[in-house]
Amino acid sequence: MAENDSTYKATNRAAWDRLAEGSPFSKVATDEECANPLGTLDSRGWLPKSVAGLDVLCLAAAGGWQSILYATAGARVTVVDISPGMLRLDHREADRRGLTLRTLEASMDHLSALDEASFDIVHQPVSTCYVPDIAAVYREIARVTRDGGIYICQHKQPVSLQIAQRDARDRYVIGLEYYHQGPLPPLEDRSYRERGATEFLHRWDQLVGELCRSGFVIEDLREPSRADYKAAPGHFGHRGRFAPPYVRMKARRSPRVQPATTTSTLWLPEA
Ligand SMILES: C[S@@+](CC[C@H](N)C(=O)[O-])C[C@H]1O[C@@H](n2cnc3c(N)ncnc32)[C@H](O)[C@@H]1O
Repeated sequence: MAENDSTYKATNRAAWDRLAEGSPFSKVATDEECANPLGTLDSRGWLPKSVAGLDVLCLAAAGGWQSILYATAGARVTVVDISPGMLRLDHREADRRGLTLRTLEASMDHLSALDEASFDIVHQPVSTCYVPDIAAVYREIARVTRDGGIYICQHKQPVSLQIAQRDARDRYVIGLEYYHQGPLPPLEDRSYRERGATEFLHRWDQLVGELCRSGFVIEDLREPSRADYKAAPGHFGHRGRFAPPYVRMKARRSPRVQPATTTSTLWLPEA
């Protein structure tokens, strides 16, 4: 692990251990949500009708929400996360509900403890912003997903991370370059940023293009709206009218190329 690699990961592990003590992301699934686990997880109808018996990887998804819902729906669940504090919430909730989960403390870009082609579904909530190289994450996901398997993810949109401040006329100012490399600097506008965490911006080329190049076909893409027309300037709902914070995608793992078994070859003319 490179020096700065271990630094930002240690920073993010500590930040999420603190957030596990109380944040919107450390709210475990409720009884009401568990009564309809797939409906709760999947308002867009991206999942199969049943996940019973399927192998599901909840990637960078500790906190006792996704894992508990998938396990309640009958899936065999593995949760990978860098934060032991967040993973403790999954353990605690699974024990309380009599569910079985496998948990693994690891970084999303190093999944060597997981076998190739071992998951039918990989579900990743907003979290790729915590690593600089999203292509490495996608490569690992492509490796562990079975042919035809589904990858559901949510990411922060670059434009939202570029907003540095709100000006005197309540306009949101893009103060960070689109091609910014390295950790995001501290900015006045802290909406949609987690306190104490080190974050990175990924461009569309990386968010979408790298996913296609890593062996997935995108089947759907949504921009969850956070626009609130009643919210006052400065409120995240007001900001959400000007810049969408998130993008959500459903992608399917393309079949791995099989070694040729026949001698016939199709030649296409060069473009
Ligand atoms: C937004 S939370 C997601 C969890 C949550 N259950 C939710 O409601 O969506 C992001 C998660 O990413 C994890 N994380 C941050 N950096 C990571 C890394 N390099 N590898 C794996 N997980 C990481 C954090 O510990 C945190 O649990």
